Amino acid sequence: MSAPIISPSILAADFSCLGEEVRAVSNADWIHVDIMDGHFVPNLSFGPDITKTVDAVTDQVLDVHLMIEEPEKWVETYAAAGADCIIFHAEAVADVAASLALAEKIRGLGVRAGISVKPDTAIEPWLDKLASFDLVLVMSVEPGFGGQKFMPEMLDKVRALRAVIDDEGLATLIEIDGGISAETIRESAMAGCHAFVAGSAIYKQEDKAGAVAELRELATL
Ligand code: DX5
Ligand code: ZN
Repeated sequence: MSAPIISPSILAADFSCLGEEVRAVSNADWIHVDIMDGHFVPNLSFGPDITKTVDAVTDQVLDVHLMIEEPEKWVETYAAAGADCIIFHAEAVADVAASLALAEKIRGLGVRAGISVKPDTAIEPWLDKLASFDLVLVMSVEPGFGGQKFMPEMLDKVRALRAVIDDEGLATLIEIDGGISAETIRESAMAGCHAFVAGSAIYKQEDKAGAVAELRELATL
């Protein structure tokens, strides 16, 4: 079993000292950067300039989650801002062909390509296309806000993905996002997730590095 990847979401950080907040989780594997446009989701977060700021203070992998319409217009910008992985939403592109083309474009920029599905979006149409993606992000809350309650039924998608990945020996990673905490991370790991986004469960703690370490331990099977 490979080591679990912990990706703190800076959406839950104190923006008045963002650099310190990123450095506080230097023991994390990745940093999760949530980009919201106020259209694809009913909230706004930050954009390429903040992404660049985060990239400047850490060598950690920047896991950029685009909750935006027309993601194809933005991938060069986020690649230039320091994204190591760019995740777009299946619901934000026209069809499967457009998703595959966008993943190829992202990989062409030297960045890992990820696709994300909202809770109401089925995973089945993607199961025979996983080789085109480096990562699949399963949303375990409705995207848009931190601090929501984990939806355990989303783990069925994780199990379906993991079965195909294992059967076919694919390198595609499964990441889960929303409501991940000390209470929910172990069942997510057992369902087959490789990577775990956690906002509130890390940034609302006094000891953020300790929270990262605890989550990693709980996710280690
Ligand atoms: C939600 C974002 C998440 C969010 C997770 O739309 O995609 O990454 O920051 O926050 P928690 O861990 O608090 O549910
Ligand atoms: Zn996210």
